[in-house]
Amino acid sequence: MLKIALLGFGVVGSGTAEVITENQDRIRRATGDGIEIKYILDLREFPDSPFADRIVHDYNIILNDPEVTLVAEMMGGSHPAYDFTKAALLAGKSVVTSNKEVVAKFGTELLQIADALGVYYLFEASVGGGIPILRAMAHDLASDRIMSVNGILNGTTNYILTRMVEDGISFEAALSEAQQKGYAERDPSADVDGHDAARKIVILCAMAYGVRYNPDEIPVQGIRTVKVEHVKLAAELGCAIKLIGHTAKDAQGKTQLWVAPCAVPNANPLSHIRDVFNGILTDTDMLGQTMFYGRGAGKLPTAGAVVSDMTDIATHPYDSAIAQHWVDGSVIELSDPALEISDYMVCCEGMATKLAEALGAAHFVGCSECGYSAMIVKNTTRKALDAALTSARACATIYRVVCVM
Ligand code: HSE
Repeated sequence: MLKIALLGFGVVGSGTAEVITENQDRIRRATGDGIEIKYILDLREFPDSPFADRIVHDYNIILNDPEVTLVAEMMGGSHPAYDFTKAALLAGKSVVTSNKEVVAKFGTELLQIADALGVYYLFEASVGGGIPILRAMAHDLASDRIMSVNGILNGTTNYILTRMVEDGISFEAALSEAQQKGYAERDPSADVDGHDAARKIVILCAMAYGVRYNPDEIPVQGIRTVKVEHVKLAAELGCAIKLIGHTAKDAQGKTQLWVAPCAVPNANPLSHIRDVFNGILTDTDMLGQTMFYGRGAGKLPTAGAVVSDMTDIATHPYDSAIAQHWVDGSVIELSDPALEISDYMVCCEGMATKLAEALGAAHFVGCSECGYSAMIVKNTTRKALDAALTSARACATIYRVVCVM
């Protein structure tokens, strides 16, 4: 029987206890033995919970108990989650987590400690909630070269953009709805300014290329500047505006890594992902494109992913050859997104027919009702577009077009 401790008894922590209790028979079938929650660390008391007798407030009880060989960290935030994770690994315990902030910021160091001590540090739930993307990348796609990863990695912003597209409501109204429904993070800036998606694409980049960058140092743009008029005109141009996390390798070997609202053509399956769902489109040299789709947040989907890491650990003795080995991002330069060649959608207030001509736009739509126009400019760079807009004394919002190859 695997004896474990949960750190944090909030949404994901209590969901994890629920999954272990409800599906103990399935877990036993997978592991040959079950999982027993011995302790739950939280600042609060939970007198009405069936787990009330497992609540502890002193982390040393867990660290000093040799029977506990696995710790599940679901506290959120960097500290003390990082410190507790490091202490557990140093005490020779495996750690599983849903905490994308800790994985994205400290993953390289924590994986090195885990490897040195022959224990696991697994984090399936940190990206895409319940979607089994990290295990698929680590195992099923292990022999493929990953050409690119594009993902809708934040459910809250996808909900907001879906409401703007389908119901024509403003960004502010849609955000307020998302908050009422409990989708948005406590600080909505983590969602709407792209930081949550940045942490997740940094983890996907590390999985794809073995190189971890600091999520605070990659180019990140959120969705606050997206207007209903842009969304409507994008639809007329056959695109949906989505917040995309992107990583790829360019021809010079530099890493492309950014988060930005993009125009996603209808031919790209990511354009059809609605509401709080997430989708990750991987493109690999042998398999080609594969779409991972599902619930990227929520109590039980995320908890299910946490428990899947536990069952993996219960069934596989530590093997350094299959563990993650990341290096620090300073070893490979990031590409400058302003120099990346792509198609772009340019949205302007007013009927910008002259601008469309000056930019050599391939498609142009205008709306006399809303007073905005939009165009697609093919095969250019953001830098060239910015220069052309400056010389035309024009103001515009630019969206990169994310095509399928
Ligand atoms: N706030 C996040 C989202 C939760 O909306 O996707 C899951 O990381």
